[in-house]
Order: sequence, then C-alpha cells, then structure tokens
Amino acid sequence: MAVEEGKSCCVVLVPSPFQGHITPMLQLASLLHAKGFSIVINHSELNPPDSSKHPEFTFFPLKDGLSNNNPSFLNLFDIIPEMNVNCRVPFRDYLVQMMEKPEIYGQISCIVYDHLMYFTTEVAVHLKLPTILLRASSCAYMEAVCAFFALKAENYFPLPESQLLDPVPKVPILRFKDLPFDLISEIPEPKLQLFEKVVNLGFSVAIIFNTIKNLENHALSWLQKHYRVPIFTIGPLHKIASSQTSLVEEDTSCISWLNTQAPNSVLYVSIGSIVVMDKNEFIETAWGLFNSNQSFLWVVRPSSIEHDLPDGYLEAVGDRGRIVKWAPQKEVLAHPAVGGFWSHCGWNSTLESILEGVPMICRPCFGDQNVNARYLTHVWKVGLEIGPDDLTRCVIASAIRKLMVEEEGKELRQRVLDMKQKLQMSFRDGGSSHNSLKSLTEFISSRVCHYYKNRNERRTN
Ligand code: UDX
Repeated sequence: MAVEEGKSCCVVLVPSPFQGHITPMLQLASLLHAKGFSIVINHSELNPPDSSKHPEFTFFPLKDGLSNNNPSFLNLFDIIPEMNVNCRVPFRDYLVQMMEKPEIYGQISCIVYDHLMYFTTEVAVHLKLPTILLRASSCAYMEAVCAFFALKAENYFPLPESQLLDPVPKVPILRFKDLPFDLISEIPEPKLQLFEKVVNLGFSVAIIFNTIKNLENHALSWLQKHYRVPIFTIGPLHKIASSQTSLVEEDTSCISWLNTQAPNSVLYVSIGSIVVMDKNEFIETAWGLFNSNQSFLWVVRPSSIEHDLPDGYLEAVGDRGRIVKWAPQKEVLAHPAVGGFWSHCGWNSTLESILEGVPMICRPCFGDQNVNARYLTHVWKVGLEIGPDDLTRCVIASAIRKLMVEEEGKELRQRVLDMKQKLQMSFRDGGSSHNSLKSLTEFISSRVCHYYKNRNERRTN
C-alpha cells in the first residue's frame, strides 16, 4: 500500500513484537505523524499491531515464520535471534521497493527501530539510510548493561554468591543481583551476544528514550558521554501521544466496579504482558491478596499462569476483588479508587504509575525490571520491595497492608504525588520532553540527520 499522498518525508518504524515495546513505538509514530511525517510500520507477523486502529499509517508485515509462538520471558531468548535472522531479507526488499518509488512511498528520512530488532541497522547501513534507536526501557537500565560489559572486560564474573548484594562498582545504587544476568554461573554465550547487540549502537545516529530528563539525569549524562550521539528524552509517551496500542482486548467492566469503590482503597495487580507466575507464587499471591483484607483488581492473563485459582476462591473474595484477563491499565491507574499498584516494574508500568501518583509494591522478574524496582524503592522511594524469597501469603498480605493503610504507604503516596507534580512540567509547553520532541522532529527533517548519515557513509567507505 502507498503512503499518504502529499507527504514527502517518511519515517519507517520497526517495533519488536512485545506489548511493552510496541506501545512506545506506536505512540512515537502518532507524534511523528502529527508533525507531518508519513509513517510506515514494518512489524513482525508474531504479535502484529492492529492496523485497523491506525488507518493513518502504512503497515507492512515482515515474514518471520514465528507467528505460532506465544511470547513470554521463558522463550524470549529463542525468539529474538530467530526473528532478527528471518526479518532481514523481507525488510531489505521492502526498503529497496520504497527507495525505487519515492513518488509513491515518499523519501525515507530515517528508520526508527526497537533495540531488539537489531537486524534493522545491518540492512540500513547497506542502503545508506540513517537509523535511530528507540529504547523501550530506562536510561538507567542501558547504563547498567554497559557497566556489566565494562566489568566483564575486567574479569569480574562469575561472582561468589556472597557478593550478590554488594554494590556494582560503576553504578553503586544497584546491587549485582539487579543486573540482568545470573552472575554466579557461567553466562551462556548466546545471551551475552544478544545483549551485546542490543547495547551496540552500530551506525545509528541518535537514541530516543521514553523517559524524562529530570527523572534520570545521572544515567542520561553518562549515556551521552558514552555514546556521543544526540539522545532525545521524550517521555512519558503515554501522556504525550494519544494512541490505541493494546494488542489484547481490554475488559472495561472493571471501571464500573472501580466507580463503586472508595478513593485510594483498591490495589491494582498486574505483571505486564510477558511475565509468567509459577504455581506457588500464583497461589500465595491469591491468598495474600485475600488475607490482606484490601480490595483489589487483579489482571490474570491466561498465558501468565500454570494453575487455576484455588477452588472456592472467587466466592470467598466476593465483591472485594475483581479478576480480569486484561485491563485498560492507564485508565485504571488514573482512577481515584486505585491507591496502590502491585507490579513487575516493566518500564511502561513504572512510568504510568508514577505519572498517576500511585505508589507501588515492586515484584520484579527479569531484564530491566530489577533495575526499575531498585530505582523505585531506593532512589525515588515511591515503592516497597518484595523479593522472590518473600513470596508467602503472610508476607504478601503484610506488604499490601503496609502500602494501602499504614504510615509507610502514606509517605510513599505523598512522595509519588510530589514526583508526579514535578514531572508533569516536562511534557507541557517549554518542558524538557516537549523541547526534546521538537528537537527530534527538527533532527529528523533537517540537515543534522544528513550530517550523521554522511559521517557514517564516510566511516563505512
Ligand atoms: C516488556 C518488559 O517486560 C519490560 O520490563 C520492558 O520495560 C518493556 O517491555 P511488559 O513486561 O509487558 O514489557 O511491561 P510494561 O513495560 O509495563 O508494559 C506493559 C504495558 O501493557 C503497559 O503499557 C500497560 O499499560 C499495558 N497493560 C498491562 C494493559 O494495558 N493492560 C493490562 O492488563 C496489563
């Protein structure tokens, strides 16, 4: 299909097939479209975005041969490398077709790609097209992964188990156990290679983060020195772009139930789109929620559990709890009845919760989530930490009461409300994210982009 008539500059976007990554990419697409670019989305067949929700974009599926998979963090490290191999040729062919017919497709200004879709840079460099990396996670996480590789080069790993709680020398706010690797064992080579590709910018001309400058000043400065390309911090995207991004139908019935609940009385529980709970954690969480005596709205994705709810559980909970398969999360967090969020600390959920002034119970699982949880509990101090060894119904119920009704919870709520107030300035006129988005638009349309493109061409010749 041809892009919109009359639009001469086109941005090609390549999201990865995970909800937490597709969301910021589609939000960015909406913003760039509003600035006058035509938009082409080259997506995988696995977990495709719903093109009918975005008639203003051109969608082109890349044959990945993976559409029968059900992505979760358990198969992520198999899916990603295969997708990067399978998508390369169809992507190259599509770009060549676009470049041969600029009168139909428009002139490609640049390609914005998700960090998990690293094949993009390899294709683009051959076609002499500039690429910009969009990170779906925080600056702090990217800094942490870079710190890991620097320490690895100094032969720091493997570590004895006794050191897992020690501070990481280059980023002392983190403990070794917050890094996304099992540091006491030999790290498998394919996993190392994947992470190396993901933090390697290749010839990309800039990085975009869905974050706010004031939230991550320190990590941002570090990345600016390390990567030496422009970095645009244009978050929180969900507050700046109105875009329908959900891959799954949202159960909006929970909003009518929330309407009947007292302010700040409901705990919202969700572990995002790819985390899976084992049987023990699921059962203990169920009884912990019940024993806390607090009202709750719990998202239980069918693909996130290996076991049914205990017999008689729903009857015992009665009207005090609601369980849905997928919630309209942003609306839920913005609802006055919601007073706390039990979360796996995905980056989107983290930003969504902070920007609604909702304090969190942090139960991270993998990847960037441990770093996010550490920042939530120890830097911004708006969350309580619950570790994998604390997952008994008794500890869970006590953590929930602490957040929802005790003094500590009140302090966390006040702090996150203060944070929300301050951060809101960033996306208003003249705020840091507002300005950064303006600079990004100019960067893409102006000579700056061409300058970096030419610089890269010189480097490759
Ligand atoms: C993944 C990674 O796990 C995460 O750590 C990384 O930062 C981004 O990619 P995911 O685990 O799905 O994402 O978590 P998160 O980043 O929080 O994204 C989930 C998105 O789904 C959020 O935007 C949230 O609003 C939405 N959601 C979740 C719903 O709309 N309804 C739900 O019921 C649950």
